[in-house]
Amino acid sequence: MDISSQISSLSGELLCWYDRHHRDLPWRISPPMAARGVRPDPYHIWLSEVMLQQTTVPAVKAYFAKFIERWPTVRDLAAAPTDDVMAAWAGLGYYARARNLKKCAEAVAAEHDGQFPDTEDGLRALPGIGDYTAAAVAAIAFNRQAAVMDGNVERVISRLDAIATPLPAAKPLMKQKVALLTPADRPGDFAQAMMDLGATICTPKRPACALCPFNNACEALRLHDPEHFPVKAAKKEKPVRQGAAFVAVNGNGEIYLRRRIASGLLGGMTEVPTTGWTARIDGETSATAAPFPADWQAAGTVTHVFTHFELRLSIYRAQVATKTARNEGWWEPVTNLEVQALPTVMKKAIAQAIPRAFDKANAYTSGHNS
Ligand code: ADE
Repeated sequence: MDISSQISSLSGELLCWYDRHHRDLPWRISPPMAARGVRPDPYHIWLSEVMLQQTTVPAVKAYFAKFIERWPTVRDLAAAPTDDVMAAWAGLGYYARARNLKKCAEAVAAEHDGQFPDTEDGLRALPGIGDYTAAAVAAIAFNRQAAVMDGNVERVISRLDAIATPLPAAKPLMKQKVALLTPADRPGDFAQAMMDLGATICTPKRPACALCPFNNACEALRLHDPEHFPVKAAKKEKPVRQGAAFVAVNGNGEIYLRRRIASGLLGGMTEVPTTGWTARIDGETSATAAPFPADWQAAGTVTHVFTHFELRLSIYRAQVATKTARNEGWWEPVTNLEVQALPTVMKKAIAQAIPRAFDKANAYTSGHNS
């Protein structure tokens, strides 16, 4: 078989597999519907792809449902208060994405009459849309022949060709191969099929090679070592930063919160007062750095891993008088924390000091927090 017939037979095998084994996802149009010309809503595809860069498919389903119920169109999202969008995003992490999500929605609403551009280049010109999202939305929403590469696709391709070059240096080579395999006919289904294959069959550990549509052609399987691929460059250890977080509760069952400055890490999100752990130097870890004097008690530590460093926060807790000064923050009922734009690290800090703070079935009430 010549190379081009080999390639089209590989993409054909994959599409056959996808027709039978695709995952049903709330934003996805199933292959029979797609074959009848039904196209997905580009807003849904864009939103789900941005969310999927943060977390797993099961976690995204809940966030996706919440967003499209509250903001059914990109114009609705564009018109929403930024604080509401940030609060709805809380828990997905990496808040710059939520800010960019809003900016992108505003650009689509204001500059494109509420319609997403239908090409990879047009999409990439929007705020917050990078190579991955542009290719994914172009392929899935608009059936453009774009080469879509994410971690799952990298794993499939690196195994298919037993690519020995480590990541990330191997990415351009991998992208070339994906571009070669992506068919003109069903590029959107092909992209989704590659991602489903990586997520369900060609898994990092113990891949189910017997069920794989590529098993006849897979070089890593021929070498009896699929798990060896993709080869990764040795990881640098993340630097550790430290700081302290202060959880004050008053006699009304309210917790003292404040807003982080708009720029920088977790910018604009809600927090309990903390020391300056985002600075290059380590933050103060003792109660001397507390936002106001109180009977601060050590309540353990929490660790949170950010993209570029690991943070170890010493947690302090104080029960304070109801009329304690507000300084620059506010007092929020502990029963109302779910709707605050609290990043995960802050939820961990609060839960460390008040173990039942996020326990819905056993909602915290004043006086039951020992
Ligand atoms: N992961 C990220 N995007 C995806 C998609 N469109 N389908 C399946 N898995 C995905």
